[in-house]
Amino acid sequence: MANTTDKSMMYRLMKKRGANAIDDLTTGLVNNMNYSDHSVEYPHGEVEAGQGVNPEWFYPVYKGTNGFSELNAIIQYVSQESLWEDIGEMMMGIAMVEMKHLDKLGDLIINLGGNITNQKYETTFVEYGKSTEDAVRLGVKAEKETIAEYDRIIDKIKPLPQNETTEFCLTLLAKLIADEEFHVHLFENWLKENVK
Ligand SMILES: [Fe+2]
Ligand SMILES: [Fe+2]
Repeated sequence: MANTTDKSMMYRLMKKRGANAIDDLTTGLVNNMNYSDHSVEYPHGEVEAGQGVNPEWFYPVYKGTNGFSELNAIIQYVSQESLWEDIGEMMMGIAMVEMKHLDKLGDLIINLGGNITNQKYETTFVEYGKSTEDAVRLGVKAEKETIAEYDRIIDKIKPLPQNETTEFCLTLLAKLIADEEFHVHLFENWLKENVK
């Protein structure tokens, strides 16, 4: 019988080959909902450790205890979905996109040789707001902070010698930023239509 390490290695190889049907299905589902920028796609290709990209660069935006990590966004939006019915649909739609972001970053960190289990997380920096308007404004703030963090990572990758790994990372970051910009657009539209 394969031990746990062998099993997780097998799983990672399967996932790479597209054998994770739920991963493919949820990517398709999220792409077909109007909560992400489906004109920009997730990258295909191989990522390797030791190609210049440090997996730790992605730790803060993966599940850092801060106001902008993907895990922070999921908890913020899912909680706001429960708190306010009239923004519930938008918050849940966006939260599902953030879950794909967390998943794709987790895969990337592992493939770059990093670790996704040694970071501790707690909800200190999650802001829920006191009204729907407040909640949506906090969403804009969180999205913009996430984009700024992705831009900082791009600034670290761009000067590296170009290879398949750097290309994959930059394409993934472009996709994540496109989705976050779409979220800013959704939130700002909601404010325009609902706050007089
Ligand atoms: Fe995100
Ligand atoms: Fe977002």
